[in-house]
Amino acid sequence: MTAPLTIRAGRVGSRIAGVGSFLPRRIVTNEEMCTMIDSSDEWIQQRTGIVERRWASDDEPLTVMIAEASRHAIEHSGVSTDEIDAVIVASVTHLKATPALAPMLAAELGLKDPAAYDISAACAGFCYALAQADALIRAGAANAVLIVGAERLSDLTDKSDRSTAFLFADGAGAAVVVGSDTPGVGPVVWGSDGTQADVITQTADFRDAVPTGQMPTLYMDGKPVFRWATTFIADAAKDILKQTGLEPEQLDVFIPHQANNRITDSMLRHLKLPEHVVVARTIKHLGNTSAASVPIAMDQLLSSGEATSGQTALIIGFGAGLVYAGQVVVLP
Ligand SMILES: CC(C)(COP(=O)(O)OP(=O)(O)OC[C@H]1O[C@@H](n2cnc3c(N)ncnc32)[C@H](O)[C@@H]1OP(=O)(O)O)[C@@H](O)C(=O)NCCC(=O)NCCS
Repeated sequence: MTAPLTIRAGRVGSRIAGVGSFLPRRIVTNEEMCTMIDSSDEWIQQRTGIVERRWASDDEPLTVMIAEASRHAIEHSGVSTDEIDAVIVASVTHLKATPALAPMLAAELGLKDPAAYDISAACAGFCYALAQADALIRAGAANAVLIVGAERLSDLTDKSDRSTAFLFADGAGAAVVVGSDTPGVGPVVWGSDGTQADVITQTADFRDAVPTGQMPTLYMDGKPVFRWATTFIADAAKDILKQTGLEPEQLDVFIPHQANNRITDSMLRHLKLPEHVVVARTIKHLGNTSAASVPIAMDQLLSSGEATSGQTALIIGFGAGLVYAGQVVVLP
């Protein structure tokens, strides 16, 4: 007879113990943007809510950005680096197929032999990483997980493309997730629609791009993305509340992926969130930072005092793939 395997018991739930972020120092205003594309400050603000964004400089590679964001998250969490036994980095702008960013990050932070890997889920990357961290902890596969969402979208943006250049930006956000007897991360609602893979996509793969001597860039057909986000994704956000067993009145904070203020406005109408709910609007000064937008917004709301520890926040990410994921979390 086969001997029974010993398995590890996991925790009842998990919670976010701390968040942190890193913003590149260079600010690109709409005025500067309009020296690159035929547009206007008024048009960009009206259509997206963006006033300015950050683009990383040469001395701010992704490795530096994720290390800085992680250091802040670890400090805020009070968790010792010795306890972190898994690292997940979500990014679509790490331009080397291998090695992944996560093991390099773990080494930079001096972590002891953690599991470490990257995931590619575009603007939903942070919420995917959180779902994984929660599942790893509840399965007993990890005790404390460092999750990071980070992008240098400026590397893949055609600065002369008036349909994308004003939108995409750079930044990094991180969180430490630990086991908890009182769950602080609700059930994930997630999914994908690969039939719409073409609506946000890299123009060529790197093998095809090399002979041309041109970096591939990001192509986006904005209208179908807008439609999808304001209908299907708005419904998914409703489903998150339902699956978590919360009424909109019980929510304190809403942190949607910072894709476009008009998408956020439309979701708010759809969700019928009460007036007291604090809504993240970091897109105004930071643009769309893809996987980094949710953790950066969470960090900024907490550090500005607009949101406080113990409040419930609905977070949702959505983007290229198309993919989406979201959950309700208790803020650290
Ligand atoms: C990108 C987006 C802002 C464009 O807005 P839109 O209303 O769809 O814009 P359109 O392409 O229909 O263009 C509308 C008008 O603005 C003009 N226009 C387009 N880009 C412009 C720009 N950068 N500056 C000024 N005018 C512009 C067009 O020429 C058109 O003019 P016309 O009416 O005289 O023909 C919008 O589609 C959007 O936000 N989509 C979602 C994108 C997103 O969130 N992506 C990230 C998901 S993770």
